Amino acid sequence: MCGIVGYVGKQQATPLLLDGLRRLEYRGYDSAGVAILDAGALTVRKRIGRIANLAELLLKEPAPGHAGISHTRWATHGSVTDQNAHPHLDRSGGLVLVHNGVIENHGPLREALRKEGHQFLSQTDTEVLAHLVGKHYDDAGSQSAETPAARLLEAVRAALRQVVGTYGIAVMHRDAPGLVVGARRGSPLVLGIGKGEHFLASDVGAIVNRTREVVYLKDFDIATIHADGFEITSLPGGLSGYEISSVDFQERDVEKGDYPHFMLKEIFEQPETITDAMRGRLSREEATAKLGGLEMTNAQLRSVERIVLTGCGTAFHAAMVGEHLIEQLAHIPAEVEFASEFRYRNMPLPKDVLVFALSQSGETADTLAALRESQRKGHRTLGICNNVASTIARESDGGVYMHAGPEIGVAATKSFTSQCMVLTLVALLLGRIRHLSTTDGLRMLDELEAIPDKVRSILKQSDHIRDIARKYASAQSMMFLGRQFNHPVALEGALKMKEISYIHASGHPSAELKHGIIALITPELPSVFIAPEDTVFEKNLSNIEEVRARKGPVIGIGTEGSRRLEELCDDSILIPHCPDYLSPLLTTIPLQLLAYHTSVALGCDVDKPRNLAKSVTVE
Ligand code: AGP
Repeated sequence: MCGIVGYVGKQQATPLLLDGLRRLEYRGYDSAGVAILDAGALTVRKRIGRIANLAELLLKEPAPGHAGISHTRWATHGSVTDQNAHPHLDRSGGLVLVHNGVIENHGPLREALRKEGHQFLSQTDTEVLAHLVGKHYDDAGSQSAETPAARLLEAVRAALRQVVGTYGIAVMHRDAPGLVVGARRGSPLVLGIGKGEHFLASDVGAIVNRTREVVYLKDFDIATIHADGFEITSLPGGLSGYEISSVDFQERDVEKGDYPHFMLKEIFEQPETITDAMRGRLSREEATAKLGGLEMTNAQLRSVERIVLTGCGTAFHAAMVGEHLIEQLAHIPAEVEFASEFRYRNMPLPKDVLVFALSQSGETADTLAALRESQRKGHRTLGICNNVASTIARESDGGVYMHAGPEIGVAATKSFTSQCMVLTLVALLLGRIRHLSTTDGLRMLDELEAIPDKVRSILKQSDHIRDIARKYASAQSMMFLGRQFNHPVALEGALKMKEISYIHASGHPSAELKHGIIALITPELPSVFIAPEDTVFEKNLSNIEEVRARKGPVIGIGTEGSRRLEELCDDSILIPHCPDYLSPLLTTIPLQLLAYHTSVALGCDVDKPRNLAKSVTVE
């Protein structure tokens, strides 16, 4: 997903745009660019690679001006080249545009424009959109009684009416100094309200140091921003209602602080973020969880006869944990499906089904599509998101925020444990209105409140885990294995390892070893077993024996005092005991650190791994 920052105000735009881009760099970092408008002259500077490359270019070739738009790219169409970097110009060279999303009908639009003599310099869908807006602007003709600003707004509107696909855009025209136009459909865009300055940004993290007052634009909104004001209309025309929100996270949330990487900071934040996911939601007097955002009465919750959980990547793994939680604690049939599959699967579902959409960013295109497909079928939907006022959070019928604070590292860490915690609270609430006793509920509340300190004790083993990571960093492949609540954790551990150390890794239910996977075991292939002393501990031990018998090295994640595990494994990481259903909150932490330290040992870019983006708002 790409990052966009726009500015109009009394300051020089370039340094503000670069600072905003740096805060968005986790969203995409193939290339970056800015366009600055100054006294009717447009200056465009763009470069492949990191923001630093662009900043270096701007030092050599400055771009003065008080209005500008900027972009950091995660390539969807076209390879990573300077030419394909945003911003893109229209045919006249007077209009400039940046875009996050996918113009699905870019092909026919390009051909129609080519027939009118347009020539394209890049392979991108975005350049087609720039030419389309420019065409409408020019067709309106300079004889038009409208001001350039009004013409530009209408040109954007006319072009977007022809677009199929998703967009978050910012546009300027040299005829309309001091004006930036923004619009969104399917890709997030926020309007920042400053004193004598206004912003557009893909998310508030880019501008939180300049303003706390924002408007989260809705799909089909078109915003025009000036130094001293803004206006929001809708694509069909007419004013669009909006509300001003106050951003509740601090600038320090989007800074690394004393940590070398955002990912390590976010791993170490988990005692606090897990606490925040529980904060104000535990009721001792009723021995249950209280979740205000569900927008459902107990009677409605009691009538739920099936639950579907959906998400992508790490959110999908959290959904798998949720499946176990809901079945075991609430005795409700539950099913998990990849969001990208769910939206096409056409599941036959009962009337009283509840569909959970899990998404840290709240903007993942496949998860949003799955949510909308559920709603199209009349199913009730609940969103479990981290980003307040994100699209999934806003479009769900209700939901529960994770309160994990901004997660900047591309690899999800604290969002996973926060999602697991929220799902535990959901399962507790559902269980207590069905069959769980007061005693059951009170015992669970005690166990939940003990988790943050148990996470702290695991984090103290970071150096020990680093030593293990260094020992196996040369592996070409790794396997992660676990059972029941720890099968999703095995998948999550494999994903962490893959995405930040680029070592091929796979996750499996431990018992699947003998169904083919054991053929892979060699002395060069480490297996990571998540084997706490739970109801399936003995089964895991026998799986470990199978691997050891074939000289496969084993790293064991076990319970403190588990001497049999320690004796069986080449290396082990022992964690505090907890009930099976809370196990993922603890067993995931060593795997996050194992992946992190492996990535550092290999010199990979932990926070911005190759080819990835933090939130995939394109399909
Ligand atoms: C996980 O480490 C990845 N960053 C990725 O799989 C991510 O979990 C997935 O893209 C879903 O993102 P979301 O939670 O924002 O929807």
